[in-house]
Amino acid sequence: CGIVGYVGSDNACDFLIGGLRRLEYRGYDSAGVAIYGGSTFHITRSVGRIDALAMQLGAVPPNGTLGLGHTRWATHGPATIENAHPHLGGDGEIVLVHNGVIENFQTLKDELIQKGYHFVSATDSEVIAHLVAESLKNTPETVGQPNLRYLNAVQGAISRLRGTYGLAIAFRDHPNFMIAARFGSPLVLGVGKGEYFVASDASPLVGRTDRIVYLADHQIAVLTPEGFSVLHRDQGKVRVNIRQLETDSSEATREGFEHYMLKEIYEQPESIRNAMRGRLDEENATAVFGGLNLTPQQSRMVERIILTGCGTSWHSGLVGEYLIEDLARIPVSVEYASELRYRNPPIENNTLVFGITQSGETADTLAALRETKRKGHRTLAICNVVGSSIAQAADGGVYLYAGPEIGVASTKAFTSQCCVLAMLGLYFGRLRHLSFERGKQIIEELRQLPNAIQQTLGCNEQVRDVAQKYQNASTVLYLGRQFNFPTALEGALKLKEISYIHAEGYPAAEMKHGPIALVDKETPSVFIIPRGTTYTKVMANMEEVKARGGPVIALANEDDPQVQAVADDVIHVPQVPEFLQPIVNVVPLQLLAYHIALLRGCDVDKPRNLAKSVTVE
Ligand code: G6P
Repeated sequence: CGIVGYVGSDNACDFLIGGLRRLEYRGYDSAGVAIYGGSTFHITRSVGRIDALAMQLGAVPPNGTLGLGHTRWATHGPATIENAHPHLGGDGEIVLVHNGVIENFQTLKDELIQKGYHFVSATDSEVIAHLVAESLKNTPETVGQPNLRYLNAVQGAISRLRGTYGLAIAFRDHPNFMIAARFGSPLVLGVGKGEYFVASDASPLVGRTDRIVYLADHQIAVLTPEGFSVLHRDQGKVRVNIRQLETDSSEATREGFEHYMLKEIYEQPESIRNAMRGRLDEENATAVFGGLNLTPQQSRMVERIILTGCGTSWHSGLVGEYLIEDLARIPVSVEYASELRYRNPPIENNTLVFGITQSGETADTLAALRETKRKGHRTLAICNVVGSSIAQAADGGVYLYAGPEIGVASTKAFTSQCCVLAMLGLYFGRLRHLSFERGKQIIEELRQLPNAIQQTLGCNEQVRDVAQKYQNASTVLYLGRQFNFPTALEGALKLKEISYIHAEGYPAAEMKHGPIALVDKETPSVFIIPRGTTYTKVMANMEEVKARGGPVIALANEDDPQVQAVADDVIHVPQVPEFLQPIVNVVPLQLLAYHIALLRGCDVDKPRNLAKSVTVE
């Protein structure tokens, strides 16, 4: 979920709606705003996107100089108007937006119901609103310090919460005043002239102010049009650092493409170039990274690497495992961030933990990095969004510089992540056994990559025809080996995410142990079978599927009569070294998912139930 708040002298609604649009990547199943209009709050909520909310607000949105807003990704309760934020507490004297999950909400809810509070939603967030109201009732006024009572009431309420929260709270009977609080869900303040902003990340502030405060866990901020202050839950007032906002202010546009996803697929030659820019050092036949914050000696001492992330970023981690072990001979393990954060794996000294993330905001990835950092391990980020929560929490890292990725299904971030991992393999390899000659060769191969992707994009028409043919499938299998096993997983994920067709990725040889039972004439299998070490083996698996009547779509190199003879449809990919194949081979799979989704009338850029970045665990 994403939250915004405004206190100042301008029209709050403009900032709230603009800000929510920029936070829509955090969820888009319902949205709402509350604007203080003289004596009470005007609350507008709608199911669906921010566009629907803006429509509902109409040509003359409520006028007011204080307000808050929310875009939701449902956790407790379906996407309905009742469950959309802002939520009211007491008899409407508290209005609040919340990002996070309150784990003890049921206990608190039962208690509040007993006390006579009436709940209208199924959310955990409404509990906080009533809890603040109850706390306010029990908090005496301090003479001459009206703000203090409200602050104490909020402190009292949040001390009872178990779970995570980013909160913005306003009060009907104490206008021109807002409280923001953070624990486990990111929250920033924007510092303007006579106006102050609250947001889940920095993006809504772009164009309004470039002065930003990143709140830390347990911090509470008080905002009025005259100024702001920050307190720590237990330690009282804290001096905060006002930082210069670094976010790129350029708005992403579709630039003539029908969807962001298609545009982002086509941007890959350029995004890969950007990932490599300034990082390939021909003279020393290695890669260089400004932000790793490791000396060559420290890098040489690394004995193990853990790669962690979620979704597509976890898939690039799997590619990274093959890459780094192959190029640098450092043992690599890949962990789902959501699992790593609660596991207690033995981690040796001299282990590096890389969190891989496009957005830099994924709650599980952030928590996994924090947990490993707590245990004394060095945490680094491979991240696209500059200044994001994970970029800040890590000890260092590598930015992708892929530019904004708007389509919910990740495309260019995946290929850039793989490219950065290949360069990391080169970097660590060159500090160990990798020869100067091999280093030079890898650099040369990396340099060819943007052209190879460009050439691959030429398959678009062909992929569209294949999509036409298989658009009604109800299950699709994706099979590949070695470097192309994670590619198969990613191809299947793309199809699942945007076309809602069930798809499974598998190591091609493993298919015999289960998925082959799914094969019939209605169930196509996509084989990733470029020439390479396992070519003949994958060929045999393809025959096995054919022998059972399953339609076969093959991704193969041009002029491959053998594949041509077996497969029903062949999509051509240029021949590149094996370690770079995922970066090239995933492109037709992205396009295949795109075209199938389009043909099935799905919302390609904003698929149902998903969010671009999942900020709750
Ligand atoms: C969500 C998105 C995926 C993404 C994953 C991890 O599930 O829908 O596309 O791969 O989060 O996001 P991150 O920003 O951490 O890479």
